[in-house]
Amino acid sequence: MGQETVALASDHGGYELKELLKRELAVKGYKLLDLGTNSADSVGYPDFGKALAEAVASGKATRGVGICGSGIGISIALNRQPGVRAALVGDSLSARLSRQHNDANVLCLGARTTGIDVPKDCLNAFLSTALEGGRHTRRVEKLG
Ligand code: RB5
Repeated sequence: MGQETVALASDHGGYELKELLKRELAVKGYKLLDLGTNSADSVGYPDFGKALAEAVASGKATRGVGICGSGIGISIALNRQPGVRAALVGDSLSARLSRQHNDANVLCLGARTTGIDVPKDCLNAFLSTALEGGRHTRRVEKLG
């Protein structure tokens, strides 16, 4: 797990949470690819969602974390890119199921809706759970 590269991107609404989760990931030994934003100045979530989608789709990062105020805008931007399965979650069960059933490769979080501890739980569940396989793999394959 320590050598896996996790890419992160947020807009201004997700900036503080991104910085917090970066510290969590660094402590756990993950390699980080921080695609911004780098301050609380107002920016557009589509640009950061696109950059993160490209990093995951190209294999530069094996998994990603996308954050905006609600998590909605960045998840929409991410899911426009083929090969990206971005899951917007607000609890650790959803984070786990996004891996077990959907093979999600990007975790999306809403900084304004989830606080601090819930995103940490979600991130841990997301990174430590594998796709179950079988019927779930067949369904994921149908997504293209
Ligand atoms: C930014 O104000 C806000 O719209 C954005 O962070 C996000 O919530 C959009 O979906």
